[in-house]
Amino acid sequence: MTAMIYPTTNPAATEVMVVSRGEGPYIYDQAGKQYLEGMAGLWCTSLGYGNQEIIEAATRQMEQLSFSHMFSGKTHPSAIELADKLAAMSPIEDARVFLGASGSDANDTLVKLIRYYAVASGQPERVKIIARDKGYHGVSLASAALTGLPANHTHFQLPFDALGVLRTGAPHYYRCAEPGETEADFVARRARELETLILAEGPETIAAMIAEPVNGAGGVIIPPEGYFEAIQGVLDKYGIMLWDDEVICGFGRLGTAFGAEKLNMKPKMMACAKALTSAYVPLSAAIVAGDIADAIAGPASDMGVFGHGYTYSGHPLGCAVASKVLDIYVRDRLFEHAATLGVYMAKRLSEFADHPLVGEVSAMGLLGALELVANKTTKQPFEGMKVAQFCAKAAEDNGLIIRPLGGNRMALCPPLIIQEVHVDEIMDKLGRALDSTLDFVTAEGLTV
Ligand SMILES: Cc1ncc(COP(=O)(O)O)c(C=O)c1O
Repeated sequence: MTAMIYPTTNPAATEVMVVSRGEGPYIYDQAGKQYLEGMAGLWCTSLGYGNQEIIEAATRQMEQLSFSHMFSGKTHPSAIELADKLAAMSPIEDARVFLGASGSDANDTLVKLIRYYAVASGQPERVKIIARDKGYHGVSLASAALTGLPANHTHFQLPFDALGVLRTGAPHYYRCAEPGETEADFVARRARELETLILAEGPETIAAMIAEPVNGAGGVIIPPEGYFEAIQGVLDKYGIMLWDDEVICGFGRLGTAFGAEKLNMKPKMMACAKALTSAYVPLSAAIVAGDIADAIAGPASDMGVFGHGYTYSGHPLGCAVASKVLDIYVRDRLFEHAATLGVYMAKRLSEFADHPLVGEVSAMGLLGALELVANKTTKQPFEGMKVAQFCAKAAEDNGLIIRPLGGNRMALCPPLIIQEVHVDEIMDKLGRALDSTLDFVTAEGLTV
């Protein structure tokens, strides 16, 4: 036991693995055991480990300028270059970029920008934000309040009311559909529920709805066909902005530059982090449409300052690394690669649909999940996380990292640089882990 307080960890189960080295899509523990990193760390190491081009770009930047802040009119070349690249890549019109260091702080920045914009545009009451069950947007006080997972709320007394957080249902057909409801009916119901919520609260009080294209930490939930089109129709009707959380889906994860393109979302703002630097160093971006940035520029200049910024906003190291990472994504056509290989991964993953423990198979691009259930016919879930945790440990014993998420969903999110042979390795190891899990569940009498 060290002096460390560990993040998102059961305090009774710390230091179960010491990761000491990484190379390509593999990591190695202290004993030298190799693992295929089937989760790209925390959905972030898209270019894998030990990429020399990135290391050289980082070294050059540290030799040239190791730090420069961006307060009070200062800037530096790497930040300007990155902001222009990001704005050009993003689907947002006339995009403007605010830089931070984590997905949580990018979402916090957007909460502040929404509030600032409400005042600047003469609608000071328009600050409420709609968020969804099973959404994950971070752990700072504001982003945790937007998150829709009980584990991130319990005991923290989060400022839901102060922030005007409104909650609507998850787009999870497998778990949330009513008996006999088709996917189209389910989508129509979700859109109706959203409209009812907006009318009950007063559309003039609601600024935005936050949504991940595919919910990641909530269980890799892929919305049914037509979901975002239906949601967007309701939001547009009441002048409510779509706030796209691209922290996982951004930069090719779903086979397109951003999840918004794949799922036909029309966002006015988005949060990016993780694969923006392929997690070589921390960096995030809050991106908004030009009219929002322009509207806040007026009042800010009257007041003398837009009073929000981090010491590490636009850190030169993060900017130089992100710039190089974006160049590599484009040069190596990695978004297209994720789309093509994603079709293969989905096909291989769907082979587990017949496994006695598997209730739902979800896959899009290089993101996927299996939901483990106690009964395939009734979809009865396992209680707690014991079964998912066993399965993740069994995968680890076989040399594969996967992540157990709430609802006993086993997530997969491998680095974008993997090839078909790695998909096959993942499926072989996952298959063995599932079989050991079945033995465990049978021995413990957990199926029904
Ligand atoms: C969709 C989404 N948004 C925001 C965050 C928060 O990012 P961070 O952990 O960098 O604060 C995450 C982290 O997993 C995420 O998945």
